[in-house]
Amino acid sequence: MAGLLAVLLVSSAPAAAEPPMLGLPAPPQPAALTTPEAVALGRKLFLDRRLSGNGTMSCAMCHVPEQGFAQNGLATSVGSAGRSLRRNAPTLLNVAFHAHLFHDGRETSLEAQAWSPLLAENEMANASAGDVVARVAALPDYAGRFERAFAGAPVSRATIGRALAAYQRSLVAGGSRFDRWWFGGDKSAMSDEERRGFHLFRFRAGCAQCHSVDDDHALFTDQRFHNTGTGHDRAAALERPVRVELAPGLVAEVTREALLRFGEKPADDLGRMEVTRDPADRWKYRTPSLRNVALTAPYMHDGSLATLEEVVAFYDRGGGADPDRADYLFPLGLSDADRRALVAFLKTLTGSNVGTLANEARNAPQ
Ligand code: HEC
Ligand code: HEC
Repeated sequence: MAGLLAVLLVSSAPAAAEPPMLGLPAPPQPAALTTPEAVALGRKLFLDRRLSGNGTMSCAMCHVPEQGFAQNGLATSVGSAGRSLRRNAPTLLNVAFHAHLFHDGRETSLEAQAWSPLLAENEMANASAGDVVARVAALPDYAGRFERAFAGAPVSRATIGRALAAYQRSLVAGGSRFDRWWFGGDKSAMSDEERRGFHLFRFRAGCAQCHSVDDDHALFTDQRFHNTGTGHDRAAALERPVRVELAPGLVAEVTREALLRFGEKPADDLGRMEVTRDPADRWKYRTPSLRNVALTAPYMHDGSLATLEEVVAFYDRGGGADPDRADYLFPLGLSDADRRALVAFLKTLTGSNVGTLANEARNAPQ
């Protein structure tokens, strides 16, 4: 009886002592950074449109909780006052495990990262950090919240970053059907087709070369940068001529780039090279984790592939047309059944708690 009671007491221990989720390593940050007060405050900031310069944009509008904390409708995001971004909004699920942030890995600290969208003119378009700090400090519903979350420290550039990071670090999503089978030994968690897909993923199709699976956990990323050919394909698409009718009967051939220049010129995107300045890094992008990938269409840094079927067909062709693409990519010669099995496997990677995380974002007390 005493034994049973002890077990009950242990199982109701506070969240800080929670074990890692099945399939994931221990979270790479001390629990002290993610106290419930800091997480709740970060969640409130994340959803708050008043954090943008003109009061229209929140973080959650591009990282939509119900869409895997990514954005399904748009290949590349649109920010404040309709200005478009050049890249696809990545999921924030499991972002705490990423060694490098952004598709080009230019940032490494979640605490510092938040100020990039807050100040970018085409994202949340604030005039300055001081402006945001002063605005939040004046909002009555934030009174005392920062002090309670951060041992007396008031609203500041640093505490806003820490609160947003604490919330994002709490978005840990594991325990997928794949995890229950592979790490939990539950044979009924996956169908034969899905298991065959995983076998292809590891061996014949070579996916796990970059989307790594370790012995006791799987992040499905090697935390490195590779050229899969997407950057080359995007640049080539912009140069391809298209026929436009300038006036009835008057047809001209112009490049898509020239056409787009009438609107907003599409920004160049050199990938990792923008960070390292090394030409060998041109069009290399960070290997994304594939956890929850069924929820986060469209795919790749520019959202150029609409479905998982398209992604698998892309790899089956050996990636993009760039002769400099990674050595691991070559035409795979997959059958229709192989491609279906790979897609079926990718769909087993959705965490068991993603619905809960989305509900909390919308319904948890502010
Ligand atoms: C207008 C749309 C938009 C808004 C608003 C926005 N983001 Fe993003 N976010 C993006 C895009 C697009 C990227 C990828 C940019 C890149 O790689 O260069 C990104 C990247 C990130 C990343 C890196 C994720 C990773 O896996 O590397 C984090 C973290 C992040 N955003 C958090 C936030 C937070 C916090 C806010 C609010 C303060 C916010 N975002 C607001 C579109 C947006
Ligand atoms: C050479 C390393 C490498 C190999 C091998 C590889 N990938 Fe990728 N994968 C990447 C990189 C890098 C990206 C991001 C490309 C970009 O953003 O343009 C990516 C993107 C993806 C995405 C899109 C994820 C998202 O959120 O946008 C999926 C899905 C994917 N890979 C699945 C696979 C599958 C399935 C295979 C095997 C058939 C595979 N990958 C093989 C490196 C690799």
